[in-house]
Amino acid sequence: MLCRFRSCAANRGTVRAVFTRDQYELLDFGDGRKLERFGSEVLDRPSPAAAGVSIAAPGVWGTTTARFELEKGGRGQWDNDGLQASGEDGAWSVSHGDTRLLLQLNPSGNVGIFPEQAPNWDWIADRVRSDTETLGRAPKVLNLFAYTGGASLAAAIAGAEVTHVDSSGPTVAWAKRNAGASGAADLPVRWLVEDAMKFVARECRRGNRYDGIIADPPTYGHGPKGKPFKFTQHLDSLIEMCGELLNPGDSPAGFLLFSCHSPGFGERDAIETVSGVLPSGQDAQIEGLSLGLNCSDGRQLYAGVAARWSSQLAGRQNSS
Ligand SMILES: C[S@@+](CC[C@H](N)C(=O)[O-])C[C@H]1O[C@@H](n2cnc3c(N)ncnc32)[C@H](O)[C@@H]1O
Repeated sequence: MLCRFRSCAANRGTVRAVFTRDQYELLDFGDGRKLERFGSEVLDRPSPAAAGVSIAAPGVWGTTTARFELEKGGRGQWDNDGLQASGEDGAWSVSHGDTRLLLQLNPSGNVGIFPEQAPNWDWIADRVRSDTETLGRAPKVLNLFAYTGGASLAAAIAGAEVTHVDSSGPTVAWAKRNAGASGAADLPVRWLVEDAMKFVARECRRGNRYDGIIADPPTYGHGPKGKPFKFTQHLDSLIEMCGELLNPGDSPAGFLLFSCHSPGFGERDAIETVSGVLPSGQDAQIEGLSLGLNCSDGRQLYAGVAARWSSQLAGRQNSS
């Protein structure tokens, strides 16, 4: 069982999406919606974190090129008459460091990236580079619930051998297109359409080990054959198995990055979740973070939490 309420002396802090302004910008938020510019497109989408807050710059909403309205069943409609994108199937792209990520309006309201993850991608790349030096070989990195591959590509481009696991075939195909767009198609990434829980359980049985593990589980999800993943029900065993898959505590390198966007699950919960599976004495090396988006006017929009552990972070404060 995870020791969820063990006390932690971990670092806590905040990281905000880091993109150059021409690539991504949160322009305004309020009244349950957010207005973001992804490269050439300005998107107006629902945002529960923006409920109960007033819009600060009403004028800027007139620049919207596509607006999403949620309907029943978690899907909705885009009004995209103003979309400028002229790529195949209305796709366009943004860049972050060496990665180029393709964007497309999706019936769930997503577009292919969660910009609040950008500081985590930078952290992963740093960890991979220093672990490569320490180990004298390419670190093995496992990315679970890996979506369109932002984290997988950050790790692979920094020099890792990556196993990318997501249950959605079209999403894994999208991640491979992102690898191509980033000039990283030949890097060592295993692209797997798999149930994350099933995959980690099998890896544990086989005795396989990873130097770094990334997990960003959704509140609800499902495997390729429909097997449900429920955050509240499956999180403990998922993280416990991730702990087992990490190289032993005496390894000179290694990291674990857990993030989530589940309502009511805070920074402290994230720290306690991770600390329960680390080798004893490693708690002080965990960073608990709130993820967020920086608005042009200086306000911040909450976008989830993360806990990051690295065997090489002893005594250091947040790096991003
Ligand atoms: C919140 S997104 C992850 C975002 C990603 N970490 C990023 O920032 O780019 C959740 C992803 O989990 C996948 N997923 C949901 N249930 C799953 C399951 N049981 N096994 C594997 N992947 C699953 C979905 O297909 C989706 O791509």
